[in-house]
Amino acid sequence: MSVMRTKSVERSIADTEEPEFQLKKSLSALDLTVFGVGVVIGAGIFTLTGRAAHEVAGPAIVVSFIVAAIACALAAMCYAEFASTVPVSGSAYTFSYASLGELFAWIIGWDLILEMFLGASVVAQGWSAYLGVLLDQLGAPIPAVIGYGGTVDVMAIVLVLVLGALMTYGIRESMRVNLVLVGVKLFIVLFVIVAGIMFVNPANYSPFVPDAAPRESATGLTQPLLQFLSGGEPMAFGVGGIFAGAALVFFAYIGFDVVATTAEETKNPQRDMPIGIIASLAICTLLYCAVALVVTGMVSYDELDPAAALANAFTYHGQAWMATVISAGAVAGLTTVVLTLLIGATRIIFAMSRDHLLPAGLAKVHPTRRTPWIISIIVTVIVALVAGLTPVGVLEEMVNIGTLSAFVLVSVGVVVLRRKRPDLKRGFRVPWSPVLPILSALVCTYLMLNLTVETWLRFLVWLVIGFVIYFTYSHRHSRLGKDGDPYLNPAEPKVVGRDS
Ligand code: ALA
Repeated sequence: MSVMRTKSVERSIADTEEPEFQLKKSLSALDLTVFGVGVVIGAGIFTLTGRAAHEVAGPAIVVSFIVAAIACALAAMCYAEFASTVPVSGSAYTFSYASLGELFAWIIGWDLILEMFLGASVVAQGWSAYLGVLLDQLGAPIPAVIGYGGTVDVMAIVLVLVLGALMTYGIRESMRVNLVLVGVKLFIVLFVIVAGIMFVNPANYSPFVPDAAPRESATGLTQPLLQFLSGGEPMAFGVGGIFAGAALVFFAYIGFDVVATTAEETKNPQRDMPIGIIASLAICTLLYCAVALVVTGMVSYDELDPAAALANAFTYHGQAWMATVISAGAVAGLTTVVLTLLIGATRIIFAMSRDHLLPAGLAKVHPTRRTPWIISIIVTVIVALVAGLTPVGVLEEMVNIGTLSAFVLVSVGVVVLRRKRPDLKRGFRVPWSPVLPILSALVCTYLMLNLTVETWLRFLVWLVIGFVIYFTYSHRHSRLGKDGDPYLNPAEPKVVGRDS
């Protein structure tokens, strides 16, 4: 069936060499690690830690962080293998085009668009919320009507427009700004850990895994799909709470996969991609576990503030100035998350347009800046409007489901590509394949089942829209469908035609 057609790795790489679609190769392993940490540490650790500990996991939230990290580590290895084999913009989308076929590639691309568009919008609103808290603490409050929760979130719009302009201007410049802000963010997270230890009261760790209790707030559509299907009563805490917590704090890890979207702009992707992906995940896991331990040790889980636990744990101990420093750090930190998700979103659309699954004209890069400027402008405007005008801030679970579904398909893709193309040079290989990739797919699927019924319904609507676009536009325009793949079928011409 033509929807299952795959694009050879050689063809994917050849496409990157066409001058009008060529991105600038300037990133090193260190850049990628900074990029990874920049996008990973964000709204998740600053807000979800408190909410998940308070509502579902108690002090065992640190175990939830470890469970989510295991899922991510398994997926990260699969991403690292692919990114070191197919060093082409587009991340999981491009990988699955080479392994699972065009329809799967489309679905993944569509899921990644969900992850990054929505992720950027959700975090932009989180940024605006923290800015409001910070300016309040500094005695200069923003008028409610233009701040977070106001009619138009002007602050979120301004942030997205400024970052969008920066990314359109250049990737190197974006990385430089990123580097500074990531430094500030790391400092703040370390500050929470070091300063917080002084206020830890070991009594707060007991009970470490609070007894399971009925969860009144989770009924009907707001209960996890797993409970809905099994007909069980929605519960919080206990062992189940640890997994529900893991599905929620998974959001905090999202982003290491975005590193793979910049493969084509990396000087030595075979070596640098695995380092960038795995190092950023390892750094974040250590920091998250430490923060979770400290915060649940500072304040009993039932008294933790579900909205801004990190800052308020210090207010609780009478350290208002420390809370202000943390809010300032959150504002700086969330900036880089939005920037990186915007860059990731443009790179995915770039890859899909270059394959003509979306209009090809979009993928043209700027003649001097060498950035995909048309897509950059479109992405910026859409994210600014969504973040500024809609109550998107509550949709972080949608970001999780989009990302987890991509992880599942990438994990399966690793096994498929090993079978199909054992000959390819792989800079990094997942150990114990196919066991680990299959385990990765299973763990990610299990986490998806722990997301709420309403998240699944919204996700299904998103997929249906994706299928409609694929079958009415993309399938007919696909460059692979029109030109064939000269690398798979030597009888076809080697010169790849363009018909944009
Ligand atoms: N991991 C990112 C965050 O927590 C998306 O904000």
